[in-house]
Amino acid sequence: MAKFIIKGGAELAGEISVKGAKNAVLPIMCATILAKGEFILNNVPNLSDVSTMVKLLEYLGLKVEKLNNDTYKIINNGLTSVEAPYELVSEMRASFTITGPLIGKEKRAKVAMPGGCALGARAVDQHLRAFEKMGVQVNTEHGFVNLDGNNLTGAEVDVEVTKLKIPSVGATENVMMAAVLASGQTIINNAAKEPEIVDLGNFLIKMGAKIEGLGSDKIIIIGVKELQACEYEIMPDRIEAGTYIIMSLITGGKVKIKNVNLSDLPGFIAKLEEMGVKFTQEENLLSVRGNINELKNTKIETAVHPGFPTDLQPQMMVLLSLIAGASEVNETIFSNRFMLVPELDRMGAEIVVDERVANIKGEIKFSGAKVTATDIRAGVSLVLAALIADNTTEINNIHFIERGYEDLVSRLKLLGANIERVD
Ligand code: EPZ
Repeated sequence: MAKFIIKGGAELAGEISVKGAKNAVLPIMCATILAKGEFILNNVPNLSDVSTMVKLLEYLGLKVEKLNNDTYKIINNGLTSVEAPYELVSEMRASFTITGPLIGKEKRAKVAMPGGCALGARAVDQHLRAFEKMGVQVNTEHGFVNLDGNNLTGAEVDVEVTKLKIPSVGATENVMMAAVLASGQTIINNAAKEPEIVDLGNFLIKMGAKIEGLGSDKIIIIGVKELQACEYEIMPDRIEAGTYIIMSLITGGKVKIKNVNLSDLPGFIAKLEEMGVKFTQEENLLSVRGNINELKNTKIETAVHPGFPTDLQPQMMVLLSLIAGASEVNETIFSNRFMLVPELDRMGAEIVVDERVANIKGEIKFSGAKVTATDIRAGVSLVLAALIADNTTEINNIHFIERGYEDLVSRLKLLGANIERVD
């Protein structure tokens, strides 16, 4: 298995560019099922998750061509299958958002249930409940969901995750993509407001869909007869941006970041400013200033947009471990998103987890160790700690990291990091 070898202590300097958003491009690629013709997607990140989604679209009968480093052409001359196999769905949960467009366009789908993942059970009950409200027959057997959407009709649905009282991002996306070609009006109550939902909605509108309320908790969709293929530019990845903001802070603040939409990260930016971090942005280049010895410790509670994003919680634990004083992180979205803690503790952190709350001792010194990535964001957080640890860190299971961060080794090397990828 490939691993990263990182010798910590180098001061990083230079510029790093944020690429296209993983969590926007994946549902947008699913949406190309909804219309025949040739799509051009620009600003597509080079991630293994994108390659997995390409495999799924090709499995269903679409043709995908990579025109250059970040541009894809997707040709839809009609599907040859409506089945998403276990091998692909189990590899990447986001594949499940193929269900909505399959129902919208083909009125039927057979999709493998996504397994759980390191973050906890990744249920899809809200997706299925909403589809049933729209007249879809749903039955699950042998690990597959069989959906018959012959009576697909617009309806008023609610995609709130009951036990968590939060909207489901994936369920919002799936319902949107089923509703745009359904007969009649669909109202999505408690809709997710993440910027990636807005990007998917803007893509669908460019295809001719009738959608209002994007970015609010109530999305209204009027079904149309047909949609058209189009060209679209994927939004920048706000989670990648947040990761590099923390990387700049902990490595001396000389790394500047391109393509950051600060308005996509209101909860994250507000929290850092409260801790004493200063941001200046000129000509699409973001500078981050904050002396670690002067930043204030804090309490963080992850929340749906516009709150503090759960996908930046692991990266934040690395920063909080360096700041004087105790800090606290309350993870309200996922039942098991503290897998970073035992790995970080092996590098010298002192974090104690009590159910959904991590108590972080500050002012520790990271030291190199052999560690293992457990998911995308925990994995990249180990890279952050390794960059400032004394001596060498070996990170295993880096395939997780490469799912969410394009070409990280060569881009960190350009900033002066001492990092190698070894098979
Ligand atoms: C999306 O996952 C993102 N993935 C995740 O990013 C992100 O952490 C998450 O939204 C929350 O913002 C993509 O967009 C590809 P949810 P998704 O449905 O859609 C429970 C990353 O690192 N739930 O909003 O799966 C679920 O178990 C990844 O890029 C149900 O119980 O998130 C979870 O605890 C990690 N029933 C919570 O709700 C359902 O039917 C949030 O899930 C649906 C969800």
